[in-house]
Amino acid sequence: MERRFLGNSGLELSVLGFGAMTFGSGKGMGVTDIAGARRQVDRCIEAGVTLFDTADIYSGGESEKILGEALGDKRPSAIVATKLFGAIGRGSHDRGLSRRHIIDACDASLRRLGTDWIDLYQVHCHDGLVPFEETMRALGDLVRAGKVRYVGSSNYAGWQLMKALATADRLGTERFIGQQIQYSLLARDAENELLPCGVSEGVGALVWSPLAQGYLSGKFDGAESSGEKTRLGETGRIGSYHRRGGEAIVAVLRDIAADHDGATPSQVALNWVRARPGVTSILVGARSDAQLDDNLAAAEWTLSAEEIERLDRASQPPPSYPNSHQRSYHLDRNPQLFPRY
Ligand SMILES: NC(=O)c1ccc[n+]([C@@H]2O[C@H](COP(=O)([O-])OP(=O)(O)OC[C@H]3O[C@@H](n4cnc5c(N)ncnc54)[C@H](OP(=O)(O)O)[C@@H]3O)[C@@H](O)[C@H]2O)c1
Repeated sequence: MERRFLGNSGLELSVLGFGAMTFGSGKGMGVTDIAGARRQVDRCIEAGVTLFDTADIYSGGESEKILGEALGDKRPSAIVATKLFGAIGRGSHDRGLSRRHIIDACDASLRRLGTDWIDLYQVHCHDGLVPFEETMRALGDLVRAGKVRYVGSSNYAGWQLMKALATADRLGTERFIGQQIQYSLLARDAENELLPCGVSEGVGALVWSPLAQGYLSGKFDGAESSGEKTRLGETGRIGSYHRRGGEAIVAVLRDIAADHDGATPSQVALNWVRARPGVTSILVGARSDAQLDDNLAAAEWTLSAEEIERLDRASQPPPSYPNSHQRSYHLDRNPQLFPRY
């Protein structure tokens, strides 16, 4: 499987990573028990996946526990990424990005994962109540204590990412080398600020919900259900994807898949994300082994430039200010300013 360095760092990741949000026994999105998790982790490793992503809040901590157990003695060759921010208790320091919570949350994740170190420790969300200085210093201290190897952000706005990086530089402490972002043919907002900022600043993107939570597999086919139990069916959000132009995008995915032997709409959607500038790894999620195998097979082939262009056009969001304004001023003067975005 193709590997890429995460941003401007020496951390090398497989282009497909495994998202362990589905590990757990029914709390939250957890649908995969330890036996299933062992099978899925082994399948991933066999396919060349090195990156495994989880979070302290997934299924109330079960996802981290199950991931740690399923990796077992394969832990040293894996890259384990987890996250903190969400409430894990009722106390005022049981959430957020204060020094107190960062240090406690890290120790708790290490215990649940059954490991001595976390390869990539990511803040799950921006905390508007805590100074950037406090958060970046505490994260840097975890790196210096050997508990964490690299740090990253998730779900930041562009200015928040830039401010965190500038704060780390000013303090001489660890910068974020990765940002975990929502990005798919149905969610391209990250192209406005986050992806260009990442390209400019050497922060690689790990992509979450690359299939728009299963919608881009094409299984809903204009209906409000696929006839089986699905995450989008349970949350009642299939219709909102139809209304956002999802069906037209799925039609193009199907068309392109038909031109590649054995390919599926899911694989086409994953390969579009893989081709986008600034993206390092794509986190694939799966309810079943069959879905996982389908998604892992995306790594075995790539899209042509024409196919990428066709998908770009089919999913183009409306222009957003100030990018549209800047483009109109500068495009004829220096197209390099806008390589893809
Ligand atoms: N940082 C964050 O805030 C954040 C947020 C969300 C996720 N994440 C990370 O990103 C990972 C992936 O996110 P995601 O699970 O939302 O990704 P996704 O790929 O958009 O959705 C995965 C879901 O889509 C369905 N699916 C997947 N492959 C399929 C296939 N080949 N055919 C048909 N259906 C398929 C399955 O659900 P159904 O069978 O139920 O339809 C599966 O659980 C997570 O595990 C987590 O590590 C991070």
